[in-house]
Amino acid sequence: MKLKSRTAIVTGGAGGIGQGIVRRFLTEGAKVAIVDIDQEQGNQLLAELEGKGEAIFIHLDISKAENADTIVAQTVEHFGGLDILVNNAHASRQASIMDTTPEIWDLSFNTGTMATFHLMRAAYPELKKTRGSIIKRMDRIKRRIISTEHTVAAPANGSEHSCSHPWAGGFSPIPGDSACRAGYRSGDSSGRNAGCACRGARAPR
Ligand SMILES: NC(=O)c1ccc[n+]([C@@H]2O[C@H](COP(=O)([O-])OP(=O)(O)OC[C@H]3O[C@@H](n4cnc5c(N)ncnc54)[C@H](O)[C@@H]3O)[C@@H](O)[C@H]2O)c1
Repeated sequence: MKLKSRTAIVTGGAGGIGQGIVRRFLTEGAKVAIVDIDQEQGNQLLAELEGKGEAIFIHLDISKAENADTIVAQTVEHFGGLDILVNNAHASRQASIMDTTPEIWDLSFNTGTMATFHLMRAAYPELKKTRGSIIKRMDRIKRRIISTEHTVAAPANGSEHSCSHPWAGGFSPIPGDSACRAGYRSGDSSGRNAGCACRGARAPR
């Protein structure tokens, strides 16, 4: 129970890797706010998780700046605080340069970089109180698997990585933190956890 009594927000927590992170966090004793745009999947997951830990579902679009404060406020109101923010969701598309439309580019940056920025700002005051952590995946950058199909995924991941770099936010890096490892090892039923490396950063005192 490495995360006992800690409260976490997991964006994109209703599906894919995010769902794996949610499950693992609950197993480790955390209370989890699952944030996702997919209402059906979120409600379904919440029903399935009943009796397996404390979780709520927040049905909001993280690409909308105004939702960041609401996500943090609803989490704090329900659980009484915030210890971990997992910036997992990222609606990126893999396409070559000629197939990457401005809309695809915007979607990638709005759900990746911009959502990370807005949520970091919204969560910062609460994370400072608990000396909490921010977890960010940094897959493609770290693994150097950029290809011709990663026209927007690679730069979006790169800027998310820079935006949530510990020093950029005044946070301290926490390599080996239990929350990071929980995220790193998690996977959903399809076993998709390969390539999900996480960076963790802790709020200053
Ligand atoms: N699947 C892989 O092989 C892989 C590899 C490397 C990195 N990643 C990264 O890991 C993360 C999760 O990937 P995945 O494959 O689990 O993705 P996914 O598409 O399966 O799941 C993402 C979740 O985010 C939710 N979501 C999408 N847009 C949203 C929005 N605007 N607001 C709120 N929720 C939103 C979706 O509904 C979904 O539940 C992504 O950041 C992705 O770039 C995935």
